[in-house]
Amino acid sequence: MSNSNLSKLPYKGCRDLFPKDKRVQDFLFETFSDVAKLFGFESYDGPLLEPIELYLAKSGQELINEQIYSFVDRGERTVAIRPEMTPTLARMVAQVHREVPLPLRWFSIPNLMRYERPQKGRLREHWQFNCDIFSLESPYGEIEIFQLLVEVFKRFGANRNHFAIHFNSRELVDGLAKNYLHLSSEQSYAFYKLIDRSKKIGQKEFKKELLAYAGGDTNKQSFLENYFALNSLESLSPFISKYQLACPRLASFLELIQKEEFSLLKPFLVYDPTIVRGLDYYTGLVFEVFNLHPDHNRALCGGGAYDNLLGIFNEKPLGGIGFGLGDVTLKDFLECHQLLPDFSKSKTQVLVAALDEKNSSFIPIIANQLRANHISCDVLWGEQKTKKIFNYSDHKGHQMIILLGDSNTPQGELLVKKTKDRSHVTCPIDGDWIQQVKTGLLS
Ligand code: HAM
Repeated sequence: MSNSNLSKLPYKGCRDLFPKDKRVQDFLFETFSDVAKLFGFESYDGPLLEPIELYLAKSGQELINEQIYSFVDRGERTVAIRPEMTPTLARMVAQVHREVPLPLRWFSIPNLMRYERPQKGRLREHWQFNCDIFSLESPYGEIEIFQLLVEVFKRFGANRNHFAIHFNSRELVDGLAKNYLHLSSEQSYAFYKLIDRSKKIGQKEFKKELLAYAGGDTNKQSFLENYFALNSLESLSPFISKYQLACPRLASFLELIQKEEFSLLKPFLVYDPTIVRGLDYYTGLVFEVFNLHPDHNRALCGGGAYDNLLGIFNEKPLGGIGFGLGDVTLKDFLECHQLLPDFSKSKTQVLVAALDEKNSSFIPIIANQLRANHISCDVLWGEQKTKKIFNYSDHKGHQMIILLGDSNTPQGELLVKKTKDRSHVTCPIDGDWIQQVKTGLLS
Protein backbone atom coordinates (compact mmCIF):
# COMPACT_ATOMS: atom_id res chain seq x y z
CA MET A 1 0.00 0.00 0.00
CA SER A 2 1.43 3.42 -0.90
CA ASN A 3 1.85 6.17 1.68
CA SER A 4 1.80 9.57 -0.03
CA ASN A 5 3.33 11.24 3.06
CA LEU A 6 6.45 9.10 2.95
CA SER A 7 9.42 11.37 2.24
CA LYS A 8 12.04 10.47 -0.34
CA LEU A 9 14.63 12.35 1.68
CA PRO A 10 16.96 10.68 4.17
CA TYR A 11 16.51 10.95 7.94
CA LYS A 12 17.52 14.38 9.30
CA GLY A 13 21.29 14.86 9.46
CA CYS A 14 22.01 11.73 7.38
CA ARG A 15 23.15 11.59 3.78
CA ASP A 16 22.14 9.52 0.78
CA LEU A 17 25.45 8.89 -0.92
CA PHE A 18 24.69 8.82 -4.63
CA PRO A 19 27.43 7.48 -6.90
CA LYS A 20 28.99 10.95 -7.36
CA ASP A 21 29.12 11.40 -3.56
CA LYS A 22 30.30 7.87 -2.95
CA ARG A 23 33.19 8.40 -5.40
CA VAL A 24 34.40 11.24 -3.17
CA GLN A 25 33.99 9.14 -0.04
CA ASP A 26 35.80 6.19 -1.64
CA PHE A 27 38.67 8.51 -2.50
CA LEU A 28 38.88 9.70 1.12
CA PHE A 29 38.68 6.16 2.52
CA GLU A 30 41.25 4.75 0.07
CA THR A 31 43.69 7.51 1.03
CA PHE A 32 43.08 6.86 4.77
CA SER A 33 43.61 3.17 4.33
CA ASP A 34 46.75 3.58 2.16
CA VAL A 35 48.44 5.87 4.68
CA ALA A 36 47.43 3.78 7.71
CA LYS A 37 48.89 0.66 6.08
CA LEU A 38 52.02 2.59 5.18
CA PHE A 39 52.52 3.16 8.92
CA GLY A 40 51.94 -0.52 9.75
CA PHE A 41 48.35 -0.14 11.00
CA GLU A 42 45.92 -3.05 10.62
CA SER A 43 42.25 -2.66 9.81
CA TYR A 44 39.52 -3.69 12.30
CA ASP A 45 35.78 -3.20 12.62
CA GLY A 46 33.12 -3.73 15.27
CA PRO A 47 29.35 -3.73 15.73
CA LEU A 48 27.04 -0.78 15.12
CA LEU A 49 25.27 -1.43 18.44
CA GLU A 50 26.84 -1.67 21.88
CA PRO A 51 25.38 -1.93 25.39
CA ILE A 52 24.89 1.62 26.64
CA GLU A 53 27.11 0.92 29.67
CA LEU A 54 30.12 0.91 27.38
CA TYR A 55 29.63 4.63 26.74
CA LEU A 56 28.40 5.52 30.24
CA ALA A 57 31.72 4.30 31.60
CA LYS A 58 34.03 6.71 29.79
CA SER A 59 32.56 8.90 27.04
CA GLY A 60 31.91 12.52 28.07
CA GLN A 61 28.66 13.82 29.59
CA GLU A 62 27.73 15.78 26.46
CA LEU A 63 27.85 12.63 24.34
CA ILE A 64 25.78 10.65 26.84
CA ASN A 65 23.24 13.28 27.89
CA GLU A 66 22.63 15.00 24.60
CA GLN A 67 23.89 13.04 21.64
CA ILE A 68 23.47 9.31 22.09
CA TYR A 69 20.89 7.28 20.16
CA SER A 70 19.73 4.53 22.48
CA PHE A 71 16.79 2.16 22.73
CA VAL A 72 15.61 -0.93 24.56
CA ASP A 73 15.86 -4.03 22.39
CA ARG A 74 13.41 -6.95 22.35
CA GLY A 75 15.46 -8.64 25.07
CA GLU A 76 15.04 -5.61 27.42
CA ARG A 77 18.68 -4.52 27.00
CA THR A 78 19.43 -0.84 26.56
CA VAL A 79 21.68 -0.52 23.55
CA ALA A 80 23.19 2.46 21.74
CA ILE A 81 24.20 3.13 18.17
CA ARG A 82 27.91 3.86 18.34
CA PRO A 83 28.55 7.62 18.69
CA GLU A 84 32.32 7.01 18.62
CA MET A 85 34.59 4.03 17.97
CA THR A 86 37.05 4.28 20.86
CA PRO A 87 34.98 2.35 23.47
CA THR A 88 34.43 -0.50 20.97
CA LEU A 89 38.13 -0.49 20.22
CA ALA A 90 38.95 -0.67 23.95
CA ARG A 91 36.53 -3.57 24.37
CA MET A 92 38.13 -5.43 21.46
CA VAL A 93 41.69 -4.74 22.63
CA ALA A 94 40.76 -5.95 26.13
CA GLN A 95 39.93 -9.35 24.59
CA VAL A 96 43.21 -9.88 22.77
CA HIS A 97 46.01 -7.72 24.16
CA ARG A 98 47.58 -10.61 26.08
CA GLU A 99 47.88 -12.75 22.97
CA VAL A 100 48.95 -10.27 20.29
CA PRO A 101 52.38 -8.71 19.91
CA LEU A 102 52.49 -5.14 21.22
CA PRO A 103 52.47 -2.32 20.30
CA LEU A 104 49.18 -2.70 18.57
CA ARG A 105 48.39 -0.34 15.68
CA TRP A 106 44.80 -0.51 14.42
CA PHE A 107 42.63 1.59 12.13
CA SER A 108 38.97 1.65 11.17
CA ILE A 109 36.52 3.84 9.22
CA PRO A 110 33.16 3.39 11.01
CA ASN A 111 29.96 5.36 10.55
CA LEU A 112 28.78 6.94 13.80
CA MET A 113 25.50 8.51 14.92
CA ARG A 114 25.18 11.54 17.20
CA TYR A 115 21.94 13.40 17.89
CA GLU A 116 23.17 16.88 16.95
CA ARG A 117 21.64 19.94 15.36
CA PRO A 118 22.66 19.52 11.72
CA GLN A 119 24.74 22.45 10.47
CA LYS A 120 27.83 23.08 8.34
CA GLY A 121 30.41 20.43 9.27
CA ARG A 122 28.10 18.70 11.76
CA LEU A 123 25.62 15.96 10.86
CA ARG A 124 23.88 13.17 12.74
CA GLU A 125 25.67 10.47 10.80
CA HIS A 126 29.31 10.77 9.85
CA TRP A 127 32.16 8.44 9.04
CA GLN A 128 35.33 8.77 11.04
CA PHE A 129 38.84 7.56 10.24
CA ASN A 130 40.19 6.19 13.54
CA CYS A 131 43.83 5.31 14.16
CA ASP A 132 44.98 4.15 17.58
CA ILE A 133 48.18 2.74 19.01
CA PHE A 134 48.23 0.74 22.23
CA SER A 135 51.26 0.13 24.38
CA LEU A 136 53.79 2.28 22.62
CA GLU A 137 55.95 4.12 25.07
CA SER A 138 55.23 7.83 25.37
CA PRO A 139 56.22 10.09 23.61
CA TYR A 140 56.84 7.81 20.60
CA GLY A 141 53.11 7.12 20.23
CA GLU A 142 52.41 10.86 20.13
CA ILE A 143 55.11 11.44 17.52
CA GLU A 144 53.93 8.56 15.34
CA ILE A 145 50.28 9.60 15.44
CA PHE A 146 51.24 13.17 14.46
CA GLN A 147 53.47 11.90 11.65
CA LEU A 148 50.62 9.76 10.32
CA LEU A 149 48.17 12.66 10.46
CA VAL A 150 50.52 14.98 8.62
CA GLU A 151 51.06 12.31 5.97
CA VAL A 152 47.28 11.93 5.47
CA PHE A 153 46.91 15.65 4.87
CA LYS A 154 49.95 15.78 2.58
CA ARG A 155 48.46 12.95 0.51
CA PHE A 156 45.43 15.15 -0.06
CA GLY A 157 47.74 17.90 -1.29
CA ALA A 158 47.55 20.02 1.88
CA ASN A 159 50.47 21.89 3.40
CA ARG A 160 51.28 24.06 6.43
CA ASN A 161 49.21 26.93 5.00
CA HIS A 162 46.10 24.75 5.03
CA PHE A 163 46.14 23.03 8.43
CA ALA A 164 47.82 22.89 11.83
CA ILE A 165 47.76 20.43 14.72
CA HIS A 166 46.84 22.25 17.93
CA PHE A 167 47.78 20.31 21.02
CA ASN A 168 47.66 20.56 24.77
CA SER A 169 48.13 18.16 27.66
CA ARG A 170 45.45 16.86 30.04
CA GLU A 171 48.29 16.05 32.41
CA LEU A 172 49.08 19.77 32.49
CA VAL A 173 45.48 21.06 32.66
CA ASP A 174 44.38 18.45 35.24
CA GLY A 175 47.41 19.35 37.33
CA LEU A 176 46.79 23.07 37.22
CA ALA A 177 43.06 22.65 37.99
CA LYS A 178 43.63 20.33 40.96
CA ASN A 179 46.98 21.34 42.39
CA TYR A 180 47.21 24.99 41.47
CA LEU A 181 43.61 26.23 41.45
CA HIS A 182 42.42 23.58 43.95
CA LEU A 183 39.21 22.91 42.04
CA SER A 184 36.85 20.08 42.98
CA SER A 185 36.00 17.57 40.23
CA GLU A 186 32.71 19.42 39.47
CA GLN A 187 34.52 22.75 39.31
CA SER A 188 37.17 21.20 37.09
CA TYR A 189 34.47 19.95 34.75
CA ALA A 190 32.97 23.46 34.49
CA PHE A 191 36.49 24.88 34.04
CA TYR A 192 37.14 22.52 31.10
CA LYS A 193 33.78 23.40 29.59
CA LEU A 194 34.69 27.07 29.79
CA ILE A 195 38.07 26.46 28.14
CA ASP A 196 36.35 24.40 25.46
CA ARG A 197 33.99 27.31 24.72
CA SER A 198 36.71 29.96 24.82
CA LYS A 199 37.05 30.33 21.04
CA LYS A 200 33.28 30.70 20.69
CA ILE A 201 32.43 33.19 23.45
CA GLY A 202 35.08 35.82 22.68
CA GLN A 203 38.07 37.07 24.68
CA LYS A 204 36.24 39.52 26.98
CA GLU A 205 33.60 37.12 28.23
CA PHE A 206 36.11 34.30 28.50
CA LYS A 207 38.48 36.39 30.61
CA LYS A 208 35.68 37.46 32.93
CA GLU A 209 34.53 33.89 33.55
CA LEU A 210 38.08 32.61 33.75
CA LEU A 211 39.28 35.01 36.40
CA ALA A 212 36.41 33.94 38.65
CA TYR A 213 38.36 30.70 39.13
CA ALA A 214 41.19 32.66 40.74
CA GLY A 215 38.80 33.68 43.53
CA GLY A 216 40.41 37.13 43.90
CA ASP A 217 43.93 35.70 44.37
CA THR A 218 46.23 37.89 42.24
CA ASN A 219 48.90 35.19 41.90
CA LYS A 220 46.33 32.81 40.50
CA GLN A 221 45.02 35.55 38.21
CA SER A 222 48.41 36.23 36.70
CA PHE A 223 49.04 32.48 36.48
CA LEU A 224 45.83 32.03 34.48
CA GLU A 225 46.61 35.02 32.29
CA ASN A 226 50.11 33.73 31.59
CA TYR A 227 48.78 30.26 30.85
CA PHE A 228 46.23 31.44 28.30
CA ALA A 229 48.79 33.74 26.67
CA LEU A 230 50.93 30.70 25.73
CA ASN A 231 50.90 30.21 22.00
CA SER A 232 54.09 28.45 20.97
CA LEU A 233 56.11 25.34 21.70
CA GLU A 234 59.01 27.57 22.74
CA SER A 235 57.03 29.42 25.42
CA LEU A 236 55.72 26.25 27.04
CA SER A 237 58.85 24.77 28.66
CA PRO A 238 59.81 28.01 30.51
CA PHE A 239 56.20 28.25 31.78
CA ILE A 240 56.28 24.67 33.11
CA SER A 241 59.59 25.36 34.86
CA LYS A 242 58.50 28.73 36.24
CA TYR A 243 55.42 27.31 37.95
CA GLN A 244 57.06 23.92 38.67
CA LEU A 245 54.20 22.04 37.07
CA ALA A 246 54.54 18.25 37.18
CA CYS A 247 53.88 16.94 33.66
CA PRO A 248 56.68 14.48 32.84
CA ARG A 249 55.05 13.07 29.70
CA LEU A 250 54.51 16.48 28.18
CA ALA A 251 58.08 17.46 29.09
CA SER A 252 59.52 14.37 27.39
CA PHE A 253 57.40 15.05 24.30
CA LEU A 254 58.67 18.63 24.15
CA GLU A 255 62.24 17.40 24.44
CA LEU A 256 61.87 14.80 21.69
CA ILE A 257 60.12 17.11 19.23
CA GLN A 258 63.08 19.50 19.31
CA LYS A 259 65.34 16.83 17.78
CA GLU A 260 66.61 17.20 14.25
CA GLU A 261 64.92 13.99 13.04
CA PHE A 262 61.48 15.52 13.78
CA SER A 263 62.19 18.87 12.15
CA LEU A 264 59.68 18.14 9.36
CA LEU A 265 56.91 17.47 11.86
CA LYS A 266 57.49 20.40 14.20
CA PRO A 267 56.20 23.18 11.91
CA PHE A 268 52.75 21.55 11.93
CA LEU A 269 52.45 21.66 15.73
CA VAL A 270 50.96 24.59 17.62
CA TYR A 271 50.70 24.69 21.40
CA ASP A 272 47.14 25.76 22.23
CA PRO A 273 46.08 26.10 25.90
CA THR A 274 42.40 26.11 24.91
CA ILE A 275 42.40 22.47 23.71
CA VAL A 276 41.00 20.21 26.44
CA ARG A 277 38.62 17.87 24.53
CA GLY A 278 35.21 16.79 25.78
CA LEU A 279 35.77 13.03 26.12
CA ASP A 280 36.51 11.82 29.63
CA TYR A 281 39.10 9.17 28.90
CA TYR A 282 42.01 11.37 27.79
CA THR A 283 44.84 11.65 30.28
CA GLY A 284 47.84 12.76 28.23
CA LEU A 285 48.38 14.83 25.12
CA VAL A 286 45.15 16.04 23.46
CA PHE A 287 44.94 17.58 20.01
CA GLU A 288 42.74 18.85 17.21
CA VAL A 289 43.60 19.51 13.58
CA PHE A 290 42.41 22.94 12.48
CA ASN A 291 41.44 24.13 9.05
CA LEU A 292 43.36 27.39 8.55
CA HIS A 293 40.98 28.76 5.91
CA PRO A 294 39.70 32.06 7.41
CA ASP A 295 36.07 31.26 6.58
CA HIS A 296 36.19 27.64 7.76
CA ASN A 297 38.35 27.81 10.85
CA ARG A 298 37.18 24.65 12.60
CA ALA A 299 38.42 21.30 13.93
CA LEU A 300 38.63 18.47 11.43
CA CYS A 301 39.99 15.85 13.71
CA GLY A 302 40.36 15.24 17.42
CA GLY A 303 42.28 12.81 19.54
CA GLY A 304 44.53 12.22 22.45
CA ALA A 305 46.33 9.82 24.75
CA TYR A 306 44.52 7.71 27.33
CA ASP A 307 46.03 5.61 30.11
CA ASN A 308 43.27 3.43 31.32
CA LEU A 309 40.49 2.74 28.86
CA LEU A 310 40.79 -0.98 29.54
CA GLY A 311 40.18 -0.43 33.26
CA ILE A 312 36.41 -0.65 32.71
CA PHE A 313 36.94 -4.32 31.80
CA ASN A 314 39.01 -4.93 34.95
CA GLU A 315 42.12 -5.18 32.83
CA LYS A 316 45.48 -3.76 33.82
CA PRO A 317 46.10 -0.25 32.44
CA LEU A 318 47.31 -0.31 28.84
CA GLY A 319 48.04 3.16 27.50
CA GLY A 320 47.00 4.25 24.06
CA ILE A 321 46.78 7.24 21.76
CA GLY A 322 44.63 7.88 18.73
CA PHE A 323 42.41 10.18 16.75
CA GLY A 324 39.17 10.41 14.81
CA LEU A 325 39.09 12.36 11.54
CA GLY A 326 35.58 13.08 10.23
CA ASP A 327 34.59 12.73 6.56
CA VAL A 328 32.20 15.72 6.58
CA THR A 329 34.75 18.24 7.87
CA LEU A 330 37.52 16.77 5.74
CA LYS A 331 35.46 17.11 2.55
CA ASP A 332 34.64 20.74 3.45
CA PHE A 333 38.36 21.31 4.09
CA LEU A 334 39.39 19.89 0.71
CA GLU A 335 36.68 21.85 -1.09
CA CYS A 336 37.48 25.21 0.49
CA HIS A 337 41.17 24.83 -0.36
CA GLN A 338 40.31 23.51 -3.85
CA LEU A 339 42.11 20.26 -3.14
CA LEU A 340 39.26 17.93 -4.04
CA PRO A 341 39.68 16.28 -7.47
CA ASP A 342 36.73 16.28 -9.85
CA PHE A 343 34.55 13.25 -9.13
CA SER A 344 31.53 14.42 -11.11
CA LYS A 345 32.00 11.60 -13.66
CA SER A 346 32.28 7.86 -13.21
CA LYS A 347 35.62 6.14 -13.63
CA THR A 348 34.32 3.55 -16.14
CA GLN A 349 36.81 3.77 -18.99
CA VAL A 350 35.03 2.53 -22.10
CA LEU A 351 31.50 2.32 -23.51
CA VAL A 352 30.63 -0.34 -26.09
CA ALA A 353 27.60 0.26 -28.32
CA ALA A 354 26.22 -0.61 -31.76
CA LEU A 355 24.25 1.42 -34.27
CA ASP A 356 22.58 -1.58 -35.89
CA GLU A 357 21.08 -4.86 -34.74
CA LYS A 358 23.46 -7.04 -36.78
CA ASN A 359 26.64 -5.67 -35.17
CA SER A 360 25.15 -5.64 -31.67
CA SER A 361 25.96 -9.33 -31.33
CA PHE A 362 29.66 -8.35 -31.08
CA ILE A 363 29.01 -6.26 -27.93
CA PRO A 364 29.49 -9.04 -25.34
CA ILE A 365 32.57 -10.34 -27.16
CA ILE A 366 34.21 -6.88 -27.19
CA ALA A 367 33.23 -6.26 -23.55
CA ASN A 368 34.68 -9.62 -22.44
CA GLN A 369 37.95 -8.85 -24.13
CA LEU A 370 38.19 -5.40 -22.51
CA ARG A 371 37.46 -6.82 -19.05
CA ALA A 372 39.99 -9.62 -19.59
CA ASN A 373 42.54 -6.83 -20.14
CA HIS A 374 41.46 -5.09 -16.91
CA ILE A 375 39.80 -2.24 -18.80
CA SER A 376 36.48 -1.27 -17.23
CA CYS A 377 33.56 -0.94 -19.60
CA ASP A 378 29.82 -0.84 -19.70
CA VAL A 379 27.59 -1.51 -22.67
CA LEU A 380 24.39 -0.35 -24.29
CA TRP A 381 22.67 -3.53 -25.47
CA GLY A 382 20.99 -3.83 -28.90
CA GLU A 383 20.67 -1.20 -31.60
CA GLN A 384 21.10 2.38 -30.37
CA LYS A 385 20.74 5.90 -31.76
CA THR A 386 23.93 8.04 -31.98
CA LYS A 387 22.43 10.73 -29.75
CA LYS A 388 21.58 8.30 -26.98
CA ILE A 389 25.09 6.78 -27.09
CA PHE A 390 26.85 10.14 -26.85
CA ASN A 391 24.50 11.53 -24.17
CA TYR A 392 24.94 8.44 -22.05
CA SER A 393 28.72 8.46 -22.44
CA ASP A 394 28.94 12.18 -21.73
CA HIS A 395 26.98 11.71 -18.51
CA LYS A 396 29.13 8.80 -17.35
CA GLY A 397 32.42 10.35 -18.49
CA HIS A 398 33.89 7.41 -20.43
CA GLN A 399 37.32 8.06 -21.88
CA MET A 400 36.59 6.03 -25.02
CA ILE A 401 33.68 4.64 -27.00
CA ILE A 402 33.84 1.51 -29.16
CA LEU A 403 31.22 1.89 -31.82
CA LEU A 404 29.98 -0.95 -34.02
CA GLY A 405 27.93 -0.63 -37.20
CA ASP A 406 28.77 3.02 -37.99
CA SER A 407 27.85 3.69 -41.66
CA ASN A 408 31.24 5.35 -42.34
CA THR A 409 33.22 2.41 -40.93
CA PRO A 410 34.15 -0.38 -43.38
CA GLN A 411 32.31 -3.71 -42.99
CA GLY A 412 33.90 -5.97 -40.34
CA GLU A 413 35.58 -3.08 -38.55
CA LEU A 414 34.82 -1.12 -35.40
CA LEU A 415 35.46 2.47 -34.49
CA VAL A 416 37.56 3.39 -31.44
CA LYS A 417 36.79 6.98 -30.42
CA LYS A 418 38.47 9.14 -27.78
CA THR A 419 35.83 11.31 -26.13
CA LYS A 420 38.25 14.05 -25.03
CA ASP A 421 39.29 15.23 -28.51
CA ARG A 422 36.78 13.18 -30.53
CA SER A 423 39.67 11.64 -32.57
CA HIS A 424 39.08 8.10 -33.79
CA VAL A 425 40.59 5.13 -35.61
CA THR A 426 38.97 2.11 -37.20
CA CYS A 427 40.20 -1.47 -36.72
CA PRO A 428 39.10 -4.93 -37.83
CA ILE A 429 36.80 -6.51 -35.22
CA ASP A 430 39.04 -9.57 -35.15
CA GLY A 431 42.21 -7.41 -35.18
CA ASP A 432 44.37 -5.85 -32.45
CA TRP A 433 41.90 -3.05 -31.53
CA ILE A 434 42.64 -3.63 -27.85
CA GLN A 435 46.08 -2.09 -28.38
CA GLN A 436 44.44 1.06 -29.82
CA VAL A 437 42.25 1.25 -26.71
CA LYS A 438 45.23 0.85 -24.36
CA THR A 439 47.23 3.55 -26.21
CA GLY A 440 44.19 5.85 -26.25
CA LEU A 441 43.60 5.44 -22.51
CA LEU A 442 47.19 6.38 -21.78
CA SER A 443 47.28 9.50 -23.96
P1 HAM B 1 35.61 13.60 18.47
O1 HAM B 1 36.37 14.87 18.68
O2 HAM B 1 34.31 13.46 19.15
O3 HAM B 1 36.60 12.42 18.88
O4 HAM B 1 35.40 13.43 16.92
C1 HAM B 1 36.50 13.46 16.04
C2 HAM B 1 36.14 14.16 14.74
O5 HAM B 1 34.96 13.57 14.18
C3 HAM B 1 35.76 15.64 14.88
O6 HAM B 1 36.90 16.47 14.88
C4 HAM B 1 34.91 15.85 13.63
O7 HAM B 1 35.72 15.99 12.46
C5 HAM B 1 34.21 14.53 13.48
N1 HAM B 1 32.85 14.63 14.03
C6 HAM B 1 32.46 14.42 15.29
N2 HAM B 1 31.12 14.60 15.42
C7 HAM B 1 30.66 14.91 14.20
C8 HAM B 1 29.38 15.21 13.63
N3 HAM B 1 28.28 15.22 14.38
N4 HAM B 1 29.29 15.48 12.31
C9 HAM B 1 30.39 15.47 11.53
N5 HAM B 1 31.63 15.19 11.98
C10 HAM B 1 31.77 14.92 13.29
C11 HAM B 1 36.22 11.11 18.96
O8 HAM B 1 35.20 10.67 18.49
C12 HAM B 1 37.31 10.21 19.55
N6 HAM B 1 36.69 8.90 19.80
C13 HAM B 1 38.49 10.14 18.63
C14 HAM B 1 39.60 9.28 19.15
C15 HAM B 1 40.06 8.13 18.61
N7 HAM B 1 40.31 9.52 20.23
C16 HAM B 1 41.19 8.56 20.39
N8 HAM B 1 41.03 7.70 19.41
